[in-house]
Amino acid sequence: MKEFSIVIAGGGSTFTPGIVMMLLDNMDRFPIRELKLYDNDGERQAILGDALEILLKEQAPQVKFSHTTDPETAFTDVDFVMAHIRVGKYAMREQDEKIPLKYGIVGQETCGPGGIAYGMRSITGMMEIIDHMENYSPDAWMLNYSNPAAIVAEACRVMRPNSKVLNICDMPVGTLRRMSQIIGKTPDELEVRYFGLNHFGWWTSVKDIATGHEYLDEIKEYVAENGYLTQVEVDTQHMDESWQATHKKAKDLLAIEPRFLPNTYLKYYFYPDYEVAHSNPAFTRANEVMAGREKEVFTAARGIIEKGTAENSGFHIDSHASFIVDLARAIAFNTHERMLLIVENNGAIANFDDDAMVEVPCIVGSDGPEPLAQGKIPNFERALMLQQVTAEKMVVEAYIEGSYQKLWQALSLSKIVPNAEVAKNLLDDLIVANKGFWPELN
Ligand code: NAD
Ligand code: G6P
Ligand code: MN
Repeated sequence: MKEFSIVIAGGGSTFTPGIVMMLLDNMDRFPIRELKLYDNDGERQAILGDALEILLKEQAPQVKFSHTTDPETAFTDVDFVMAHIRVGKYAMREQDEKIPLKYGIVGQETCGPGGIAYGMRSITGMMEIIDHMENYSPDAWMLNYSNPAAIVAEACRVMRPNSKVLNICDMPVGTLRRMSQIIGKTPDELEVRYFGLNHFGWWTSVKDIATGHEYLDEIKEYVAENGYLTQVEVDTQHMDESWQATHKKAKDLLAIEPRFLPNTYLKYYFYPDYEVAHSNPAFTRANEVMAGREKEVFTAARGIIEKGTAENSGFHIDSHASFIVDLARAIAFNTHERMLLIVENNGAIANFDDDAMVEVPCIVGSDGPEPLAQGKIPNFERALMLQQVTAEKMVVEAYIEGSYQKLWQALSLSKIVPNAEVAKNLLDDLIVANKGFWPELN
């Protein structure tokens, strides 16, 4: 079997160890000859990089491993770029969450004003790494899960239309794991139909591949009572208390649209006041992650370095992230795997704009994704999606044109922002907080 060379962009990410462990766990179906970490914060990355070097020497000495901040070293001779960068890191995520909360508005990593602010930062970093990939390994593919994926995907469509970048999200994967547990199946046994935007969609079908049995009603019955809260933990990434509350809230998302199973992120659009009432403006999700996942991962890494061994290290396989291997294999081995990806609509949703970046099931092979037709969607969802996708598009336009006016309009369009005045005040605050990260707006 061919052996692959991979660079993880955003090597200092809290998710890097879990993904590296997951890659090692999948070597029989996706063999690796070289693995590199790339980050523009060498100091942060070195903690994980030095620890992973020890781990790889012990567990997979045949894999050539390095970590670097030099784009040429990182991106030369790679088959895949696995990208999870966070431009501005946790310090800026904290701002994205806390600034809107000052106005009594949802502060969230990818939704509403927080997501828009993050999008304006991410575009620069994403275009940078896409260009590095194309300069140094023009045949490579980028598997991108850097957020906010919806805005990033739209920026890719407009600014790098021919680049081989696949934008993907793990929320539907995690939720499908929960659904499969609810009905006593495994995710591999199920096939779904789904339509929407990233972090803004609905399942219209969850079927047994072998028998064709439709489980939608059975799952709905459970979700109407419990949301996606399950007894056995199958979706290991989304476990903190705040995530449990999110899974539970799906119950109220199903209540407003009983025909389909909702993506958990819809809660920020349908129940923003509830979210704000249940937020602590002094301690948001960014604080929770810094005190939790980030601390745990970096403490484990320092422990490995100190002891000189990764035995009993505290690095865990992110088994839930194995969809990244499925995606890489689909490209590498033309597997025709069916996966949800964020792609240009072009008719996949029959009554929605061709040039909208939508999230739908695709068949993925060596030439990339082929979106599957999802038919027509109801007006309720279509209207919500049009408002949201237009806001996302206007962020990208504002970025390209350096337009204050367009970004103000984008913020006003967000369902989470109550009016144009608040949008303007928010925008002025966000501009100050994002100095050095955003293009200048005029
Ligand atoms: P993190 O801050 O721990 O890691 C991100 C790393 O990216 C940092 O080390 C940072 O220095 C680096 N970075 C920032 N700008 C860069 C640039 N221009 N070039 C190279 N490196 C750069 O963040 P995290 O919590 O581990 O999350 C990483 C990313 O993955 C985020 O964007 C997050 O939203 C995303 N994510 C997406 C999904 C999904 O469903 N698509 C799931 C999980 C995480
Ligand atoms: C889900 C979403 C991601 C998001 C992550 C945030 O997996 O699909 O897009 O980045 O949750 O998780 P966190 O634990 O950092 O709040
Ligand atoms: Mn996501």
